[in-house]
Amino acid sequence: MKIAVLPGDGIGPEVTAEALRVLDALELEGLELTHGEVGAAGYRAKGHPLPPETLALAREADAILFGAVGDPACDDIERHLRPEQAVLGLRKELGLFANLRPAKAFAGLEGMSALRPDVARDIDLVIVRELTGDVYFGEKKREILPDGRRIGWDRMNYAEDEVRRIAHVAFRTAEGRGKRVTSVDKANVLETSRLWREVVEEVASEYPEIALEHMYVDNAAMQLVKAPGALDVVLTGNLFGDILSDQASMCVGSIGLLASASLGDRTTDHGTFGLYEPIHGSAPDIAGQGKANPMATILSVAMMLRHSFALEPEAARIEAAVAATLADGVLGGDLGGSTGTSEIGEAVVSRLITTS
Ligand code: IPM
Ligand code: MG
Repeated sequence: MKIAVLPGDGIGPEVTAEALRVLDALELEGLELTHGEVGAAGYRAKGHPLPPETLALAREADAILFGAVGDPACDDIERHLRPEQAVLGLRKELGLFANLRPAKAFAGLEGMSALRPDVARDIDLVIVRELTGDVYFGEKKREILPDGRRIGWDRMNYAEDEVRRIAHVAFRTAEGRGKRVTSVDKANVLETSRLWREVVEEVASEYPEIALEHMYVDNAAMQLVKAPGALDVVLTGNLFGDILSDQASMCVGSIGLLASASLGDRTTDHGTFGLYEPIHGSAPDIAGQGKANPMATILSVAMMLRHSFALEPEAARIEAAVAATLADGVLGGDLGGSTGTSEIGEAVVSRLITTS
């Protein structure tokens, strides 16, 4: 079980260290960890946010544990050298087209949600976000118009096979959950979305037991705060999924709580090859201060054990220890507490042991 560990920038290394501490405490046999540089760290060390050595490490692994990338010091460098290109490049190069972002209420944290506690309490959804297409990867350009005005453009497009494969992921995910898929698009305005809707309908016919509804993204943003408990599997494109998943995190309580798995078609001896990362960024404002919340990265390790290594009991153990830690009021600054990064990691480890 080879894991490529790519901590990246800002709080990435701090939260990754705690996630590895939790992994270590499980005393799994046959784990092999390699470490690589990505993001601004990769750029500084090797001149590229995704150095070829790091990409090779990632390819050779069964799973990748990714911290975060982004550094304000890199704001003015060319786009292809920006830290974000590391994660975008890994997703694209490794064919990780399916991004699963679960959002579930934690007992005891209802008061930290940006929503009323009685609304927040019911959240149990997963965003299935397409990850290697859309306006993220369409042609981009900067031009000067004949009259001298600068113009920038990014092409939004989806081919039907790209929509079909992510739709299958959503319907299969729904089979193991509440059997409902909400497909989010902007079909009242965008042609890309009209095709999306058509293809999702076609795929739906193969899953008669799953209820499908379509929702415009503006309405979805509203429903996510009005009645998030009514959502089960939210299927959407790359850009809308990026936006809605940050919103979902504050409905749960903090962006420091949401994990993610990015999967493709490739399987390994143990399960599906995947990249696992918190949905938050590098948070440069608090980097190096030991106050970042490591829960999202710890929960990403649980997703890794589940999807890449078929270790469901161990994944569930981590999730139970995280839930117990939060229920006991061990909270970082993002949740109104004052517990530091490594104390939170320790608290999870101690509950791993007592819940085993
Ligand atoms: C995310 C992040 C990334 C994205 C950035 C860092 C490129 O916001 O994983 O949600 O936009 O996909
Ligand atoms: Mg995002």
